[in-house]
Amino acid sequence: MLVRFLNETAEKVGREASKRPEVELEPIRAALARVARGDATDSDRLTLQQAAFDGALVVRSDGQSSATSILAGDATSPVEHGDDVARKLREFLLPQRPGRLPPMPQLFLIGRAGALAEIKRRMGISGGQPLHARTVVRGWPGIGKTTLVNAFAYDAQANACFPDGVLWTSLTREPAILSEIAAWGRALGLDGLARSPIIKDAVDQLTKRLADARMLIIVDDVWDAAHAQSFLQCAGQRCGVLLTTRLPAVAEELSPAPDAVYTLPLLREDDGILLLRLLAPAVVAGKHDACLHLVRDLEGLPLALHVAGRLLASEARMGWIVDDLLLRLRDGAAVIDAKAPADRADIEKQTIPTVAALLQQSTDLLDQHTRECFAFLGAFAPKPATFDLDAMAAVWMTDDPKPVVRELAARGLIEPAGGRFQMHALLVAHARSLLDP
Ligand SMILES: Nc1ncnc2c1ncn2[C@@H]1O[C@H](COP(=O)(O)OP(=O)(O)OP(=O)(O)O)[C@@H](O)[C@H]1O
Ligand SMILES: [Mg+2]
Repeated sequence: MLVRFLNETAEKVGREASKRPEVELEPIRAALARVARGDATDSDRLTLQQAAFDGALVVRSDGQSSATSILAGDATSPVEHGDDVARKLREFLLPQRPGRLPPMPQLFLIGRAGALAEIKRRMGISGGQPLHARTVVRGWPGIGKTTLVNAFAYDAQANACFPDGVLWTSLTREPAILSEIAAWGRALGLDGLARSPIIKDAVDQLTKRLADARMLIIVDDVWDAAHAQSFLQCAGQRCGVLLTTRLPAVAEELSPAPDAVYTLPLLREDDGILLLRLLAPAVVAGKHDACLHLVRDLEGLPLALHVAGRLLASEARMGWIVDDLLLRLRDGAAVIDAKAPADRADIEKQTIPTVAALLQQSTDLLDQHTRECFAFLGAFAPKPATFDLDAMAAVWMTDDPKPVVRELAARGLIEPAGGRFQMHALLVAHARSLLDP
C-alpha cells in the first residue's frame, strides 16, 4: 500500500519511483574482458551499453587518463586496464555508423534504462510493431533530452532496427536549415545541396534518396515546429524519427498523436545521489545526509546535479569545508550563476554559457507581462513549488490567471500536476533572479 502511494506520488511530480535495478556484475566483467582481448560480440555490446546507459558502467576520460568503473548498489569497483583498453571500450560502445552522428556522448548516463526501453517500445526498436515511428521527447530544461536521444544514435538495438544509419541535427533557436539539410546530403554522398536556390529543391533530392532507407532521424532542440518540417519531410516511410523540445506546445504540433509525446522524467532520488557521488565522491561520502537534501532540493535535474557536483568537487579538492556551499546550492542561486557542464559549450562562440543563460532561452520567448508574472511566481513559490489557480490569481492580482498559465505551460515553464501547477526548483531560482538581476 505504502509502495503504491509512493509510486503514485512520484508519478505526480514526474519522477520514476521504482528502485534502481540490481546490477549483475559477472556478465559486465566478462564482456569487458572480451573487449580487452578483442573478441567481444554484438551481445556484449548490448550488455555493456545497457550498463553504460543506466549508470552501472561508467567510463570517464579527462583527456589525459581514463577510468572505468562498474557500479553495483553503493559499491564502486574500478576496472584496472590501460588507456588503450579504455579507448577500445569507447569505440566498442560508440561504434561509427553511416550518416551524420551526434557528438560522442559522455558515457555517463545515469538512470535512463526505463526511458530508453519505453522509447524503444513505442518506436518498435525492441521488437513488435511500432506504435509511433515518430516520437517527440520533451521535458524541463536540462533534464537530459539531448543526452538521451544522442545515445540512440549508438544504441545496438536501434542500429539493428535502422541498419542504413543515422541522420542527426540540432536546431537551436535560429537554425541554418539549408546548411543542415546539405550536411545530411553530404553524409549520404549527395554533394552540392547547399547550392540549391531554394530549400525545397534540396529537400526533394534528399526525400528521393531516403524513400526506401531505414535510417534513424534525430532532430534535437526544436524551438519552432516549422523549423523541423523540412527534416520530417525527408524521412522515408521506413525511417524512425526522434525529436526533442523543451516546449510542450511545439511537442504537440510535432506529434502525430498525443501519446507520441514522451515526457522525460526527473532522475529518481537514488540515481540523483549516484550522479552526485560520481562527480564529488569525497563530499557524498563525508556529508551524505546534506547531499541527499541537495538532491531533493534540486529535484533530480541532471543539469543542476552536474553543476553542483562539479562545484563541490573543486572546493573539496582545495581541502575546504563545503557546508556553506552545500547550503548555497540548495536554493538553486549558486547553480544558476555557475557555468553549465562542458558538453553544453556553445560551439560557434567557443564559450560555455552559465546555467542562467540556458534557462533564459525559455524566458526570452515570453512577452514582458508574462515574464513578470513568471518572476513573481518564483518569488512567492512555496517549496516544492506547486500552485493552484487561486494562488496564481492572488500573486498576479488578476481575476483571470488562465491566459498567463496557458502561456507558461505552453513554454514548459510550469507543468500541470494533478489539478495544480508545478515549477521546477531551478526555474524558481531563475524566476527570482529576474526580479533581482
Ligand atoms: N542521465 C544522465 N546522467 C548523467 N548526466 C546526464 C544525464 N542526462 C543529462 N546529463 C547531463 O546533464 C546536462 C544536461 O543534459 P542535456 O543537455 O541532455 O539536457 P536537455 O534536456 O537536452 O537540455 P535543454 O533543454 O537545454 O536542451 C548535460 O551536461 C548532460 O551531460
Ligand atoms: Mg538539449
